[in-house]
Amino acid sequence: MGLRACLLGLFALIVASKCSYSPEPDQQRTLPHGWVSLGRVDPEEELSLTFALRQQNLKRLSELVQAVSDPGSPRYGKYLALEDVAELIRPSPLTLHTVQKWLLAAGAQNCHSVITQDFLTCWLSVRQAELLLPGAEFHRYMGGPEKTRVVRSLRPYQLPQALAPHVDFVGGLHRFPPTSSLRQRPAPQVAGTVGLHLGVTPSVIRERYNLTAQDVGSGTTNNSQACAQFLEQYFHESDLAEFMHLFGGKFVHLASVSHVVGKQGRGRAGIEASLDVEYLMSAGANISTWVYSNAGRHEAQEPFLQWLLLLSNESALPPVHTVSYGDDEDSLSSAYIQRVNTEFMKAASRGLTLLFASGDSGAGCWSVSGRHQFRPSFPASSPYVTTVGGTSFQNPFRVTNEVADYISGGGFSNVFPQPSYQKEAVAQFLKSSPHLPPSSYFNASGRAYPDVAALSDGYWVVSNGIPIPWVSGTSASTPVFGGILSLINEHRILNGHPPLGFLNPRLYQQRGAGLFDVTHGCHESCLNEEVEGEGFCSGPGWDPVTGWGTPNFPALLKTLLNP
Ligand SMILES: *[C@@H]1O[C@H](CO)[C@@H](O)[C@H](O)[C@H]1NC(C)=O
Ligand SMILES: *[C@@H]1O[C@H](CO)[C@@H](O)[C@H](O)[C@H]1NC(C)=O
Ligand SMILES: *[C@@H]1O[C@H](CO)[C@@H](O)[C@H](O)[C@H]1NC(C)=O
Ligand SMILES: *[C@@H]1O[C@H](CO)[C@@H](O)[C@H](O)[C@H]1NC(C)=O
Ligand SMILES: *[C@@H]1O[C@H](CO)[C@@H](O)[C@H](O)[C@H]1NC(C)=O
Repeated sequence: MGLRACLLGLFALIVASKCSYSPEPDQQRTLPHGWVSLGRVDPEEELSLTFALRQQNLKRLSELVQAVSDPGSPRYGKYLALEDVAELIRPSPLTLHTVQKWLLAAGAQNCHSVITQDFLTCWLSVRQAELLLPGAEFHRYMGGPEKTRVVRSLRPYQLPQALAPHVDFVGGLHRFPPTSSLRQRPAPQVAGTVGLHLGVTPSVIRERYNLTAQDVGSGTTNNSQACAQFLEQYFHESDLAEFMHLFGGKFVHLASVSHVVGKQGRGRAGIEASLDVEYLMSAGANISTWVYSNAGRHEAQEPFLQWLLLLSNESALPPVHTVSYGDDEDSLSSAYIQRVNTEFMKAASRGLTLLFASGDSGAGCWSVSGRHQFRPSFPASSPYVTTVGGTSFQNPFRVTNEVADYISGGGFSNVFPQPSYQKEAVAQFLKSSPHLPPSSYFNASGRAYPDVAALSDGYWVVSNGIPIPWVSGTSASTPVFGGILSLINEHRILNGHPPLGFLNPRLYQQRGAGLFDVTHGCHESCLNEEVEGEGFCSGPGWDPVTGWGTPNFPALLKTLLNP
């Protein structure tokens, strides 16, 4: 059938199979555990959908990312402005025209674009949306710890074949909001009493990572840092004050968040949100801090996607962003995962450092046609972000050496090939690790993560006025590492250098200089006879449990300060 016939079919809203395609056939569409359906949504209700438009010049974008992030390149640190990124990758006039015409014909109104013009968010009635995306059927679902309500379609949608060269995917249909995997672990037994601490606090972090009272933001640069929240979760400023009062120790810090992007609800504080804010602001002390609060508050929006849109719609952003969001790589459609990875490339080209938690299930485990394998998670597995794993103190009550935390997420992507910056380090690990799991469990040619680590075990958090002990997860190590990179950026800015930007090429070139190498401990995986619950084990140099290791601030500053 010709294009013309297809278009006629489209406008008659009779979409024969030859004229349509499914952009995300591989997206998981099952109802997540703990969610229930509240029934079909009224056809007259309004919802918003996000259209990811096909970008241009992605090969050039990846070359530019390489050039601005590689210390050996003459372009190192010469980051692109958002407007330059827009100039490079914005969709072709044909793409913009075709998609706009299609949406207009369907009655979509109130469409909003971003500076890079590669996303469109539009409001439609459910009736219009179901006609626009044949196959989709919108229901309201409720679930998660906060009994969040969302509007989603568990049925796959189709797009007219004529849009295949123009649209990557449509957001707001399938993916449910992420849930936090933070856990509160039981307190270990105390042995002895002298020189003990009772869990991880800012003073413990600062002692272990060699931060002195002088290692805080100067207040004379416009340096800043950010964390992003995607759960129906908020932080309370009063918790931050109480936290600093109880655990702050002797260092100068800011009393409040400088900028909240999105709306803070009136609800109870969430532990995840409290943790991120409290530790980002005590590691990166006295540095102006932004919080992306639950971006995408409408029931039909995907919060993580909305955060990506915010990044592409604002030219001046904090140089460091920490994010504790993740999904199983295999649950996401290839169209979505590739596009999100491109969004990370855009961020890297602008000199933004994106830090993601490596996950809290060790190597993970799932079964593919009856065989067990490890289960990588995304965005941890993206080659364009810096992924942070987790450690524990060897003696949980003393500031001692760190060992791998058994929950620390790590492994090898099944989607992204190994980037060149890490090939040598990974090969070295595979050659020398005495405890390698069977090769059928992981894809040795994939992007390997994490890149770095920090303590992830036994944190104190203040949430809703209550101090909570033994909070654990790589959601804790990520803001700590982020705050420390912000302190390094502070010195770089004071010395007239650009911020660190996408760190991995430099990190691997310097073979983890300035980090404490974590050489003991393994993480968890499949509970079967073949591997007996063990994934990879940390060892000298880089490993897929703790990366290159944890920060020794003065040493790390020294190696990362120079241009
Ligand atoms: C992007 O920013 C502009 C200007 O602030 C705004 O009008 C537009 O709605 C934003 N886009 C989205 C998708 O929110
Ligand atoms: C940093 O901490 C380690 C271990 O706690 C210590 O051995 C070292 O001397 C400290 N100072 C520097 C500058 O690395
Ligand atoms: C902390 O920041 C403030 C400005 O926000 C500045 O006046 C002060 O000197 C800073 N403190 C230190 C110890 O650098
Ligand atoms: C502050 O940051 C913006 C970009 O985010 C930059 O253009 C400006 O020069 C900075 N100002 C100072 C004083 O560093
Ligand atoms: C292994 O990873 C590569 C990308 O590096 C991918 O093309 C391949 O399909 C993966 N293999 C499996 C079995 O998932």
